Amino acid sequence: WEIHYLETVDSTNSWARQEARQGARDGGIYLTDYQSAGRGRRGRSWEVPAGTSVMFSILLRPDLAPENLSMLTLVMGLSVAEGIRAGTGLDAGIKWPNDVVVNGKKICGILTELDTVSHSVIIGTGINVNMTSFSEELREKATSIAAETGRSWSREQTAGRVIASFAENYRVFAGTGDMTGLKEAYQKILVNRGKQVRVLDPRAPFTGTALGIDDRGELLVKRADNGRVETVFSGEVS
Ligand code: BTN
Repeated sequence: WEIHYLETVDSTNSWARQEARQGARDGGIYLTDYQSAGRGRRGRSWEVPAGTSVMFSILLRPDLAPENLSMLTLVMGLSVAEGIRAGTGLDAGIKWPNDVVVNGKKICGILTELDTVSHSVIIGTGINVNMTSFSEELREKATSIAAETGRSWSREQTAGRVIASFAENYRVFAGTGDMTGLKEAYQKILVNRGKQVRVLDPRAPFTGTALGIDDRGELLVKRADNGRVETVFSGEVS
């Protein structure tokens, strides 16, 4: 793992992709204090005030089948939740597949991108550390470590804990190339577990109870209508 830092950048995901295309090695961590064009999922922007969050992207060139790459998002989610739990004592959980939440509010976003030009995977992570106020639009949905604990925290230490946790989890993940070795830890803090979820499959939405994940990181949902257990690959659950 090799850490690269810029005070300001457009987006650490874009920066890492650029480096990947210029031959940067596997294991680079691209960290910044401020993004002028931070990106979220589904084309949304990800804007945070300078110096209030931990934002970084990890560049990997794993020898994995494309269908296994999305699991890296789960590995990162687990690592962020573990890092926050260990560092702050907050009860951070995972909302499958991408979000880390505390008291029902999102505290971290993860954007994993595949670059077919450089054959790399870029896992971008933004953790809300020291924001104390949120826009009206976000107030109900988002939180930060500071907002939950009533004091500010070291961003360096937060980043360090999360990255250390990722390094260990990635080692376990790479052993099998799937979630076999991490499933138990992941499920322990999966907030959807045992809860009613709505699977927003565009063709055939349904509701059911989330049971956990399988070795491939898919969500297992027991349908309310016929009791069958379905595996949900991606898309949204609410
Ligand atoms: C989401 O929509 O929940 C994902 C947000 C991901 C934000 C992080 S911040 C670091 C990295 N660089 C980006 O441009 N986005 C990700």
